[in-house]
Amino acid sequence: MFSNRVSSDLTPNRLSAALARLREQRVAFDDLTESNPTRVGLDYPGRLLEALSQPAGLVYAPEPFGLPSARDAVVGDFRRRGMSVSRDRVVLTASTSDAYSMLFKLLCDPGDEVLVPAPSYPLFEYLATLDSVRPRPYQLEYHGAWSLDLDGLRRATTERTRAVIVVSPNNPTGSYLKRAELDALALHCRAHGLALIGDEVFAEYVLDAELPRTTSVLAQRHALTFSLGGLSKGLGLPQVKLGWMVAAGPDELVRPALERLEIICDTYLSVATPVQVGLPALLRDGTAIRTGIRDRVTRNYRALVKAAPAYPSVDVLPSEGGWYAVLQVPAMQSEESLVLQLLEHDRVLVHPGYFFDFPREAFLVVSLLPRPEAFDRAVARVLDRVEAAA
Ligand SMILES: Cc1ncc(COP(=O)(O)O)c(C=O)c1O
Repeated sequence: MFSNRVSSDLTPNRLSAALARLREQRVAFDDLTESNPTRVGLDYPGRLLEALSQPAGLVYAPEPFGLPSARDAVVGDFRRRGMSVSRDRVVLTASTSDAYSMLFKLLCDPGDEVLVPAPSYPLFEYLATLDSVRPRPYQLEYHGAWSLDLDGLRRATTERTRAVIVVSPNNPTGSYLKRAELDALALHCRAHGLALIGDEVFAEYVLDAELPRTTSVLAQRHALTFSLGGLSKGLGLPQVKLGWMVAAGPDELVRPALERLEIICDTYLSVATPVQVGLPALLRDGTAIRTGIRDRVTRNYRALVKAAPAYPSVDVLPSEGGWYAVLQVPAMQSEESLVLQLLEHDRVLVHPGYFFDFPREAFLVVSLLPRPEAFDRAVARVLDRVEAAA
């Protein structure tokens, strides 16, 4: 009866089952996977959402790409970040996930492929499969710093490849795309008729300002390109549901892409009017939230880097940006058994590396968002456990 887009095997894995058991028994634990910014004690301006109750929000005036005033606000936000984009290339979406779905519909027929980084954001598998698209991994490699395996990416490109996705900074490795990588990717995309999709939701959370990084995939003009962002990460407002994509590249590619995208967006009209009306005020008044998140992730990352040297078997991989940190730990036991032990004995939840498709074991991924006291307490327990097991 049901489509194969959703797997028929819905049995929870061992970690989800253990977690469900603890929750059922109301056992408290520290959650180092918490990536919901609204739940970690950050200051949100109390009146921020008054922007959503303006009278203009009572009028429904559907626009496939969004209200011009809201798209202008996105243009202004790019200007703040030092980038010039034009309103007619800005498309509003309900979220970044929504933007991916629109782009897969634009670019792919069922069975076509998109190249996705590994390790990276676990949702790509679902997002692609739900649009009948096959995600095909290309590797990010770690040699003291992360870099993109361009040869592997070229080898992974087939007749059915339609797009390359890059995440910058990447979740969870925290690595920004470098300028030389962007140029090489753009030329590859151009040569093979692929679109370049840059997921830049974490772009403003720089953890190491000294290192070279590209601000955006929009910095090149060779390939049909889409830069994705939104309020979910950009302002720590995932519940407000507003994202955007900005198209760039050669005119002869951008124009037909936008004509088709307009039909797709017009079919769904997925963005609510009140949030579009409120966007200029949200972008203006929400900057304190971004600063709060940036301070938090920077503080926690530094605390982790400072604590780790006392534990010789743990290596905190350098992170350039984003909300996560990666710990390399001895592969004496499987990631799954270590993570279960941490949860059941030490009452700390962390992500195992395999969630993010690390090519080998053993890695742990922690969110840098939790409250500092909970973060420090939980990190100490993780480090103690790993060291004791080594
Ligand atoms: C790399 C990356 N892209 C996109 C998203 C989803 O963003 P949105 O809430 O806008 O769908 C996430 C959420 O964690 C993410 O990590």
